[in-house]
Amino acid sequence: MLHPTGTPDTPGTPTVHQLPSYLQADKLGPWGNYLQQVDRVTPYLGHLARWVETLKRPKRSLIVDVPIHMDDGTIAHFEGYRVQHNTSRGPGKGGVRFHQDVTLSEVMALSAWMSIKNAAVNVPYGGAKGGIRVDPKKLSQGELERLTRRYTSEIGIIIGPTKDIPAPDVNTNEQIMAWMMDTYSMNEGATATGVVTGKPVDLGGSLGRREATGRGVFTVGVEAAHHIGLKIEGARVAVQGFGNVGGIAGKLFAEAGAHVVAVQDHTGSIYREGGLDVPALLAHVKETGGVGGFAGADRLDNDAFWGVDCEILIPAALEGQITGANAGRIKARMVIEGANGPTTTEADDILHDKGVLVLPDVIANAGGVTVSYFEWVQDFSSFFWSEDEINARLVRIMKEAFAGVWQVAQEHKVTVRTATFIVACKRILHAREMRGLYP
Ligand SMILES: NC(=O)c1ccc[n+]([C@@H]2O[C@H](COP(=O)([O-])OP(=O)(O)OC[C@H]3O[C@@H](n4cnc5c(N)ncnc54)[C@H](O)[C@@H]3O)[C@@H](O)[C@H]2O)c1
Repeated sequence: MLHPTGTPDTPGTPTVHQLPSYLQADKLGPWGNYLQQVDRVTPYLGHLARWVETLKRPKRSLIVDVPIHMDDGTIAHFEGYRVQHNTSRGPGKGGVRFHQDVTLSEVMALSAWMSIKNAAVNVPYGGAKGGIRVDPKKLSQGELERLTRRYTSEIGIIIGPTKDIPAPDVNTNEQIMAWMMDTYSMNEGATATGVVTGKPVDLGGSLGRREATGRGVFTVGVEAAHHIGLKIEGARVAVQGFGNVGGIAGKLFAEAGAHVVAVQDHTGSIYREGGLDVPALLAHVKETGGVGGFAGADRLDNDAFWGVDCEILIPAALEGQITGANAGRIKARMVIEGANGPTTTEADDILHDKGVLVLPDVIANAGGVTVSYFEWVQDFSSFFWSEDEINARLVRIMKEAFAGVWQVAQEHKVTVRTATFIVACKRILHAREMRGLYP
């Protein structure tokens, strides 16, 4: 068998990219990371490489001002974004993030990774993403609702069930999707459930959607573990981020007999050598908002989290977490990217050199958008499936997509990330070539 992570993707001379005037070369953030990933795949694109520039710039970026009345009588203004990276294969699709660090270049990168992800699992969507630069934890429920509704109205000119379909991401949830759906519907004069996914089940949401990303992380992890001869039962797992993605992935791994030994979130890091009681930890997070203060564990220094003894590491919080500064200390055999963009290119290379298998976000966390696709299909047909049907279809799609990507990695002796980019970029650029350029 080949080395599980393939041979190094030699970066060669760094490509100098022509940047749009609204970006600064020294402040590219995750967008710079994405551009490097595209550079690495370009040599494998054959004749489609002539279209590759199309992947290096978003199709459409909308910046909106979101003013709202605050409870104290003042008026506050927030920056909002919606970026449609590519729509060659179908309408835009991607989440909405509420976070104080959201920037245009971050939303651009997240939208581009959605294009890759949707093509990798072959759902008929392009890639998009949105966000508001806000710390929602500082808002009252009323302020949060007004913010969500005004933002939805502002981006209403470019979203829609056949144009671009938002979904939850960091700090957005079913309630926020319900407000978005209602606001869009009020403006349209007709209920349009298909405008967002990740809605409550009683409002056209899908069974299984809440757990879908974590379930996909677990499914891909089990498949890959099999390839490298790693037994899930008894494996030690460390998880960063214990929200929707990390919490569910941790729960599924624990149910399969793995030991979740360390968890980190925004409230701190905890550790228990014999494995944490995951259901009790989930209940604690639900009640208190974070893992900090959980009674059944020792407190761990945040930086020490990265050097914990484990076989599987799941970053499931934010991007740029595994860097040149901590990658060398990671002891896991396998990193499963639940978060989008958690590993910098430099860290990717360090992990590769150490023989750590990295299952990239663009395949590992695609379970969420896959069930979002099921939700959208169910909304259009107004015919809803059972949870068993949904989970079975999700697992089948994830397994097939991963098998295809694994095969390409072996064939070209490249990392799973580059292999996923090869599969996805070819699909996107083939669609672009067939559609041609308008006019
Ligand atoms: N929800 C989905 O369906 C979905 C799908 C694909 C990818 N993702 C990605 O997964 C990641 C997590 O999303 P989510 O939906 O679980 O969000 P969430 O809001 O439910 O959870 C986020 C978690 O990250 C933790 N966190 C935040 N800042 C942190 C920090 N500085 N250090 C450590 N932990 C921190 C939070 O405490 C929380 O546990 C994001 O990168 C998101 O883009 C989510």
